[in-house]
Amino acid sequence: MKMEDIVKTYISKNGNQVKALNNINYNFKEGKFYAIMGQSGSGKTTLINILGLVDVPTRGKYFFNGLEVQKLSNDKLSEIRNNEIGFVFQHFYLNNRLTALENVLLPTLINKKHTKEEIIENAKKLFNNLGLESRMNHYPNELSGGEQQRVSLIRALINEPSVILADEPTGNLDYNNELEILKLLKEVSKKKCVIVVSHNPNIKKYADIVLNLDKGVLNEN
Ligand SMILES: Nc1ncnc2c1ncn2[C@@H]1O[C@H](COP(=O)(O)OP(=O)(O)O)[C@@H](O)[C@H]1O
Ligand SMILES: [Mg+2]
Repeated sequence: MKMEDIVKTYISKNGNQVKALNNINYNFKEGKFYAIMGQSGSGKTTLINILGLVDVPTRGKYFFNGLEVQKLSNDKLSEIRNNEIGFVFQHFYLNNRLTALENVLLPTLINKKHTKEEIIENAKKLFNNLGLESRMNHYPNELSGGEQQRVSLIRALINEPSVILADEPTGNLDYNNELEILKLLKEVSKKKCVIVVSHNPNIKKYADIVLNLDKGVLNEN
């Protein structure tokens, strides 16, 4: 994913302009684990939202798999979001009325890549790999924070995306669960592009590439 001169400006309610991203030029590659470090307010969530096609830049060009995003139709954007991008959030965003397995299956409902049987088989494999086979039919409020985050990682992986975007994925976890999630993301990054934004310095040692975001400016370490 390539960003060229990406700028994002917000206009706040009192009319002030906030430059959340300031001229970002960067090419994110497959098979790498990127840690983007930044203080609160440095533009991390804005960057993840633009990378994930859920927000648009004010200026600049963004290419996803060579396609210029600003020129794509809404249908194409939804298709890319669903097939190619998996999201992991600080607050998990699991649906409390659905079991772990049902949560994981949600993104597959509009995905026609596989049959229902294949999808369930795939989901079971992921629950196994992440040590959660006994938790598949539990509801989120019956799971620990670390378990919930692993379920949301399975949900992010279920459509076999090429990119995983994680916004403060360890922000609500204790140290051991933090390490667990980071190890899993590291494993995932062997075959995918993993981008984690965070202010947690522990993430740096798992990353192939550490970048800093400071007041909307992205720099290599
Ligand atoms: N919808 C919005 N309207 C106005 N300002 C915003 C909006 N979203 C974010 N900002 C501002 O943009 C800057 C970057 O925000 P954000 O990307 O959320 O940073 P981070 O995730 O690093 O904390 C902050 O100064 C924030 O106040
Ligand atoms: Mg944020």
